[in-house]
Amino acid sequence: MADSSVEIVEGCRLPVLRKNQENEDEWPLAEILSVKDIPGRKLYYVHYIDFNKRLDEWVTPDRLDLKKLQFPKKEAKTPTKNGLPGSRPSSPEREVRKSLDLNVQSASAPSRGKTLPTPKRKAESVSLATQVTAAIPVPSLPSSAEASQASVYPAMRDSSFSIKSREEHEPLTSLSTNGTTRRLIPSQPGRKRKSCGGTDEIVKVFQNNNPRCSTVYLPPGEDSQDSSDGIPSAPRMTGSLVSDRSHDDIVTRMKNIDCIELGRHRLKPWYFSPYPQELTTLPILYLCEFCLKYLKSLKCLQRHLTKCNLRHPPGNEIYRKGTISFFEIDGRKNKTYSQNLCLLAKCFLDHKTLYYDTDPFLFYVMTEYDSKGFHIVGYFSKEKESTEDYNVACILTLPPYQRRGYGKLLIEFSYELSKVEGKTGTPEKPLSDLGLLSYRSYWSQTILEILMNLKSENGERPQITINEISEITSVKKEDVISTLQYLNLINYYKGQYILTLSEDIVEGHERAMQKRHLRIDSKCLHFTPKDWSKRGKW
Ligand code: ACO
Ligand code: ZN
Repeated sequence: MADSSVEIVEGCRLPVLRKNQENEDEWPLAEILSVKDIPGRKLYYVHYIDFNKRLDEWVTPDRLDLKKLQFPKKEAKTPTKNGLPGSRPSSPEREVRKSLDLNVQSASAPSRGKTLPTPKRKAESVSLATQVTAAIPVPSLPSSAEASQASVYPAMRDSSFSIKSREEHEPLTSLSTNGTTRRLIPSQPGRKRKSCGGTDEIVKVFQNNNPRCSTVYLPPGEDSQDSSDGIPSAPRMTGSLVSDRSHDDIVTRMKNIDCIELGRHRLKPWYFSPYPQELTTLPILYLCEFCLKYLKSLKCLQRHLTKCNLRHPPGNEIYRKGTISFFEIDGRKNKTYSQNLCLLAKCFLDHKTLYYDTDPFLFYVMTEYDSKGFHIVGYFSKEKESTEDYNVACILTLPPYQRRGYGKLLIEFSYELSKVEGKTGTPEKPLSDLGLLSYRSYWSQTILEILMNLKSENGERPQITINEISEITSVKKEDVISTLQYLNLINYYKGQYILTLSEDIVEGHERAMQKRHLRIDSKCLHFTPKDWSKRGKW
């Protein structure tokens, strides 16, 4: 219980009562991010240390354990980029921890943050750091550097493939969850690292005595929203492309929208989104579910609906199978829609750098059809041109549709586009905790599907190279390698690198595939990639 004699200020830490997933009481340590006076009592905005920010919430005083109250350290405030103190009391230990988590999650951290395009306005900066939700196990993913190390076998494209002696290999390594390097095979002291280029090496597969168990041999070798509904014409945005934590200020750290009504759904945002400030005090923000325009009241929405003719996202429908469709939207041609989509998406996407301009992006919106129209389920954005082979910038399944396979359907679609483009691709980093889980699951299933369907020829064990897996799936080879490592398939046996598909893996994969009902049918995709580099300006 909060004692009125003690002043609980921003930056204080103390245990706060919350319900866990099993609906049991727990008292995790939390930090007070904000305090507000409402008539008769105070409310405290808390961030549970070591939990994802989406669990942050306003709590009443009776949920605070004052006996264990820690006051903020009396030190300089969080410095900002321009050297001025930030608005939030600093919590240095946590900052360090978070960046470690981030490193573990990132397959390859780019110099800038994730790009979530927003209107070309002053945009509010958002946090780029991430936390691993304690409730969700997030296994480690090797960084691309680690992944490259895993592929440092001598190139072996020629037909004289043979299993080389142990000395000719480099050790495979992977990151463990605490960020330290863990060897998967015995190390080779004194041997120099060879350059990454070993992904052409043949992987041999054979069925061993147990017919359900195969072993894979890895030999060496439109414009801003108008104001007709009494809403300011543009979202309030100040922002940055910079991905350092100094922009993680008190305003953008807190969710600002309480509830969004979108068609028949009410959504509770997880994170800050730079909607106009005057809308942040509303109990409910109303969105037109087809054009995504935001309105301050049901009355305004109803008036808008009499004028809005859209019953599907703008752009071209490039895929339809059953009730699922995908629409391709050009961020330059449909600016207002793209901006409104980004504002909605930001409610569920953390550690994004707000990007000023939607022009360089395409948006692929997945819908489900019924007699009322094509209802948005999720989307991903994609740079028209990516120098880093990104085939997804941001990806989102709206919460009412989550955990039903739509996320992997979006991911599968993104790789189908890459296949048509004849490229391999990878999602922009850093991935969120849920993004990582979804990609891991997709990559694992996709790669296992290939390995298990390999047929032996002339009595030989079936063979495949990492590059071939990458070409067939359009999954970037670093992600192929990190997935093989994550699945812990790589072993060293009698002078060879081998991948062993245990019975457990095979059965687990078969069970998972039986549950995966939602799949992309490439025959239903009508997509012609454009060469954006030849168009001058998008
Ligand atoms: N807890 C545990 N596992 C989860 C959870 C969760 N809350 N959510 C998804 N998963 C797992 C699923 O179990 C599934 O794995 P499995 O099939 O092996 O069991 C896998 O993730 C994918 O599940 P889907 O149902 O296909 O995915 P979903 O529709 O829930 O969408 C997504 C996943 C897009 C990441 C969604 O959680 C989301 O929109 N999150 C908020 C935005 C976000 O974090 N986006 C990714 C950012 S990274 C980037 O943009 C490149
Ligand atoms: Zn509309």
